[in-house]
Amino acid sequence: MGNSKKIVVLPGDGIGPEVISEAVKILKLVGEKKNIFFELTECRIGGNAIDETGSPLPDETVAACRQADAVLLGAIGGPKWENLPHHQKPEQGLLGIRKALGLYANVRPAKIYPALVDASTLRPEVVQGIDLIVMRELTGGIYFGQPKGVREENGVRVGYNTMVYSEPEIERIARTAFDFAMKRRKLVTSVDKANVLDGSQLWREVVLKVAEEYPKVELNHLYVDNCAMQLVRNPKQFDVILTGNLFGDILSDEAAMLTGSIGMLPSASLGASAAMYEPVHGSAPDIAGKGIANPIATIASVAMMFRYSFDLPDAAKAIETAIEMVLKNGYRSADLIGDETTQTVSTSEMSDRITAELDPLL
Ligand code: IPM
Ligand code: MG
Repeated sequence: MGNSKKIVVLPGDGIGPEVISEAVKILKLVGEKKNIFFELTECRIGGNAIDETGSPLPDETVAACRQADAVLLGAIGGPKWENLPHHQKPEQGLLGIRKALGLYANVRPAKIYPALVDASTLRPEVVQGIDLIVMRELTGGIYFGQPKGVREENGVRVGYNTMVYSEPEIERIARTAFDFAMKRRKLVTSVDKANVLDGSQLWREVVLKVAEEYPKVELNHLYVDNCAMQLVRNPKQFDVILTGNLFGDILSDEAAMLTGSIGMLPSASLGASAAMYEPVHGSAPDIAGKGIANPIATIASVAMMFRYSFDLPDAAKAIETAIEMVLKNGYRSADLIGDETTQTVSTSEMSDRITAELDPLL
């Protein structure tokens, strides 16, 4: 008897269901080969959950995720739900599940596949060899800080949010960043806006304190505006970028694009006792249902699941190698820039080709 793992699958909206169904095939293949039985439960989140239940995050979804060994999410949102009141929008489902599961550490790796060096909007010599992760704090900062809202002051409406981090919150995300760096090139760049924001001063102070526990790791600090600039100037200088929720949201989209397409980037959101895996890209309603979405980010998120939740780094590596081989053989989804040597394939064909390469590697 192999072991059994509970996985909650949240396909979400837009291209979410399309990319998830391909990634689930890969998950099952690895399960068969490695003798793991995956008990899959599908739940609603985001716009489809609003349509069905009135809430972007139904209680059953949260309860199922709490019982799961890992959660696999597609993407949420779309124009249909954009005009709902703020607290009912699909995005609240995503923020809600992150908070409910305590997923404070969002790991977003940006690594360039050699075959895609020419697919970036930046010059090949700038992007060749990029291998960085954005370690984004995910359950605090301005996304969740109180007070927030819109109030009236002397007849004028004023909108406000609060960027707030407590010392323990900074400490635990910093520790996660340093732990990751220890297994990589041992370089942490902490990104803040300490020249302007009081909260950033505490951030920097706490990160410096945590760094004392990791004498082997080199620590640098960058202001967020400078970091945004350095990411396009010389992205190879980065190993682990440690930052808060909002700065991490922005910098991870920028980092994603360095690798050719945001359709390539996986992510893991990790907490003390839960983990969720999802592509960095959104629900792309403009291409939903056309069968042309890139499934690679979601398939690579499954690889991260094997690495971080199931301690099967070989399976993770095999998936990543299979992706690399398919790209090397010239297959591209529609979002990836190609040339006369490449062939554009559909969502399912991309995934079938990855499966064919993966099977013998397992
Ligand atoms: C992301 C997304 C989300 C975020 C949105 C959809 C709420 O942009 O995961 O980066 O801002 O965190
Ligand atoms: Mg984002």
